[in-house]
Amino acid sequence: STVDWEVGSYDTGGYAHFLLKEIHEQPGAVERTLSGRLNERFATAHLGGLNLDARELREIRRVKILGCGSAYYAGEMGAQLIEELARIPAHSEPASEFRYRNPVIEADTLYVAVSQSGETYDTLAAVQEVKRKGGRVLGVVNTVGSAIARECDGGLYLHAGPEISVASTKAFTSTVVAFALLALHFGRIHDLSPADGRRIVAGLKALPDQIRKVLEQQQEIEALAAEYAHSRGMMFIGRVRGYPVAREGAQKLKEISYVHAEAYPASELKHGPLALISPELPTVALVPDDELLDKNLTALGEIKAREGRVLAVAHRPVEAKLADHCLVVPKSEPELDPLLLNIPLQLLAYHAAVALGRDVDKPRNLAKSVTVE
Ligand code: AGP
Repeated sequence: STVDWEVGSYDTGGYAHFLLKEIHEQPGAVERTLSGRLNERFATAHLGGLNLDARELREIRRVKILGCGSAYYAGEMGAQLIEELARIPAHSEPASEFRYRNPVIEADTLYVAVSQSGETYDTLAAVQEVKRKGGRVLGVVNTVGSAIARECDGGLYLHAGPEISVASTKAFTSTVVAFALLALHFGRIHDLSPADGRRIVAGLKALPDQIRKVLEQQQEIEALAAEYAHSRGMMFIGRVRGYPVAREGAQKLKEISYVHAEAYPASELKHGPLALISPELPTVALVPDDELLDKNLTALGEIKAREGRVLAVAHRPVEAKLADHCLVVPKSEPELDPLLLNIPLQLLAYHAAVALGRDVDKPRNLAKSVTVE
């Protein structure tokens, strides 16, 4: 098998950094991840490379997702999508830890390995551990013909295109889209109704334009990043679907700006991290318009009562007494909302890193793919 691009033959195409270019490439990356895979007639996803027929898929009782860093967080979003759409228990775990706890491999569990590069040693070793014990592994991988892709029993390629910047953005987004396809496919084999299937298909098709809408807010986000970049640290909070978004947002900020960031479920604030809240530690809060909206707004009130500054990322403006700033993103289907809520956080991290003069595409101490343990 071959690798279909070569690092080095790419330039930033007029953007200041590869990272900014890759953030802006996301609408096209999502289109490629979806291309040829939506089946409108049966309101499902057509996934040719799973190497599992409907009967085998019906026998799956659990899904375990394995990846490192942002791939692990994308897997958390994937696990939620699979649970919500297919009602199959699903869980994402750091691949780097997995093999060290002598994992129980069960015949009715499907393992899914997630990797942009397809070369991450820890993820490859986790796949090999599952296979050694007779488990079945699918790959959600960007790089065609990579070591992880070759080791898996089947899977989906992202087709996101080459990702050069160390910080993952478009591959992250495409990974979550790939999980949405997988969840839709599993869901329609189980109990997801045709109407709900159609709702997800339409939601997926709308994503590229909605991402473009978020990217149009770049100037506003740049101004906010300049204001928040010099903070002592930042807190990222979200609940349920918003929590993996908070984790990925904090990861991106840490990686490229070196600003310390913590991610917590908003519900956990009162169990400890509320002690950190002060004017020097602003909070980025994911406030989707869903069944937890009121509870999320209550958490903002708790932060404001402690003089914490709040940047809300929401589906409609949050009143000024609860948030100092608010970025409004387009609403998708509830299950797909995390994808869009994450985009402004990429731009926030990017512009914070630029404001602080960091080496955006090659942050200190990090490599694009970690091929050693
Ligand atoms: C993402 O911004 C990071 N650079 C890092 O966490 C990365 O996602 C991780 O190392 C996994 O890489 P992979 O997807 O190539 O396996």
